[in-house]
Amino acid sequence: MPVAMRPIIATIQPIIWGGAVQPIDKMRVLDLPIAWGLILLPRSRRIAPPMTTPESTKLTIRLATPADAARLALVGAASFLETYAHMIPAEDLVAHCTTKHSAETYAAWLADPSATIWIAETDPAGAPIGYLVLTRATLPEASPHPEDLEVQRIYVLSRFHRTGMGYALMNLALAKARSKGANRVVLGVHNDNVRAIAFYKRQGFDVVDERKFTVGNSIFCDSVLARKLR
Ligand SMILES: CC(C)(COP(=O)(O)OP(=O)(O)OC[C@H]1O[C@@H](n2cnc3c(N)ncnc32)[C@H](O)[C@@H]1OP(=O)(O)O)[C@@H](O)C(=O)NCCC(=O)NCCS
Repeated sequence: MPVAMRPIIATIQPIIWGGAVQPIDKMRVLDLPIAWGLILLPRSRRIAPPMTTPESTKLTIRLATPADAARLALVGAASFLETYAHMIPAEDLVAHCTTKHSAETYAAWLADPSATIWIAETDPAGAPIGYLVLTRATLPEASPHPEDLEVQRIYVLSRFHRTGMGYALMNLALAKARSKGANRVVLGVHNDNVRAIAFYKRQGFDVVDERKFTVGNSIFCDSVLARKLR
């Protein structure tokens, strides 16, 4: 690139990258006509900034707010599909995600003062990569006391497994349950989800029963687990 062009490129960079100024070398991959063309594109059609890898991505967890219903629906459906695509038929997956991972489902939990939802995100981009939903215990098979709580959902996208995110989410839920005076935290998990069951057992959960769990038109067998807090 002619040296004389560099000040021009430096000027347009913040526009192209949405405000995040990139080193001038990044622009060298673009030939000039493309770079000028980008200025004319609406923001929604501009090329994205360079990708980081999952391993180098900074992650954060925060409490979800009512504004997060759509983000939770997105990561909820994506992580459910990813976890069960190998064992649940397509029509059941679609039916389940359409209803149980709708924005309305999460909006209802977010509006429930007895429920707490944490959302895990990339930092600073804020893309949702995991979440945990903690509610009053609703699993009859666990014979819950009124003050017991239930991990309704804990999911992390697989590219971010083994980053400590699962432990971090669960530890937040257990700390919250203790602070609310719960005796136990309970949950249900598909019997064949060996990885998750092993994770829960390492977190101090024991199998206490089984239940049937409906996904679309299929019925699956879940293990019911509980962890005593005192
Ligand atoms: C279950 C689940 C939430 C666990 O989350 P996770 O992020 O994989 O768990 P963690 O990273 O905290 O811990 C997993 C292992 O990674 C290890 N680990 C933690 N940080 C690590 C790091 N930085 N580098 C390498 N390993 C790490 C942990 O020590 C742990 O190892 P251990 O089991 O031998 O002790 C996750 O596997 C998941 O979302 N699965 C799919 C969804 C699912 O099945 N949900 C449950 C449905 S009921």
